[in-house]
Amino acid sequence: MHKAIIRSTGYWVPEDVITNEELVASYNAYATRFNEQNAAAISAGEAEPVPLSSAEFITNASGIERRHVIDKTGILDIDKLHPRITPRSYSETAFQTELAMNAIRPALDKAELTGAEIDAVIVASSAQQRNFPAMACEIQEQIGSTGFSFDLTMACASALYGLNLANSLIQSGQAERVLIASPEIMTCINVHSRRDVHFIFGDATAAMIVERDTGQTGGWDVVGTHCENKFSTALRSDFGFLNDAERLVEPGYAPGLDQDGHKVFKDVVGFAPTVARNLMKRINLEPHDVSRTWLHQANIRMVDMIAKRILGRDRTEDNAPAILQEYGNTSSSSVVMNFEMNSDDMAPGDYGVMCAFGAGYGVGSAAVRKR
Ligand code: COA
Repeated sequence: MHKAIIRSTGYWVPEDVITNEELVASYNAYATRFNEQNAAAISAGEAEPVPLSSAEFITNASGIERRHVIDKTGILDIDKLHPRITPRSYSETAFQTELAMNAIRPALDKAELTGAEIDAVIVASSAQQRNFPAMACEIQEQIGSTGFSFDLTMACASALYGLNLANSLIQSGQAERVLIASPEIMTCINVHSRRDVHFIFGDATAAMIVERDTGQTGGWDVVGTHCENKFSTALRSDFGFLNDAERLVEPGYAPGLDQDGHKVFKDVVGFAPTVARNLMKRINLEPHDVSRTWLHQANIRMVDMIAKRILGRDRTEDNAPAILQEYGNTSSSSVVMNFEMNSDDMAPGDYGVMCAFGAGYGVGSAAVRKR
């Protein structure tokens, strides 16, 4: 059986930044206008008032302070509360593909590879811009690679499901070099008029190149990968290809992202570390053997609790770095970004564990060793 290594990673974030204060000012202006315009219906009990948000709440409850986004103007415009994207013509690549390429190019450069040396492309992200052709086919064509390609999704855990699969493809000899791309435009999925979720996400894209160990220097050994699922509807996005058909039956139907934040928090801080520990048990890795864990970035208290349960010791910025203050939750790209930003200082032989969790619920984990 072959062994796999992570040869390189890359990431990209948009330049536009929205602070909590800016986001809340716009949301509250929207909420106040709605409440004023619907005052009569609200006082008659026929409509619910839109509750006000607070920057202080967001910082304290989530740890998020800012997020990078593809279109600040559209998101803050209280008549839209949504990013604007120009539709593409038949001859242009998908917008999401263009963003994916921003992370793929640096990953290829770092690995000193050309796209032609990649023989499998997996797009692993929460959502794809179109149903088909698969974005992975388009990326394959863009980089000039041959072989096979496909899209997969397991929400915020997608990138590590992609790594799990890439590991198997390399072990079995079905592929020699796999590109996993995780372009995430979560501000297009999010509902910025819903107080419980309006602050959660930022946009980012990440890429990972995984290849067969042929004795080359550098990179990270993939020591093991493991994924587990537990079904839940507490975090969902009902947006999808049936919506037009559903609206023909219920014209007011407006699907979007929603969650029971408390439940997600409670369920996931129990489930995610169990999956990582199951992997560690399988490969005989004790918590004290693990120098660092790179966790999906959703909420700073979740990061604290999950890190402690994986590592068997209190979280520090060294053993489980947090990046959500600056980027918010960037879905599946977050764990790859975290790894890329916080791994250069580790020494050859050091072990680390990646763990990503999200809707499904799905939890992906991977143990790596610096070469
Ligand atoms: N601004 C101001 N107040 C708010 C608010 C906002 N944006 N959102 C909620 N509140 C209020 C609530 O009304 C409630 O008030 P009350 O105590 O008077 O009833 C109080 O703040 C606490 O609300 P709650 O929903 O219990 O907050 P929380 O501590 O659970 O934090 C989340 C909310 C979303 C930050 C937290 O539940 C979370 O991060 N969950 C995980 C979700 C997640 O990360 N999902 C993605 C996983 S991949």
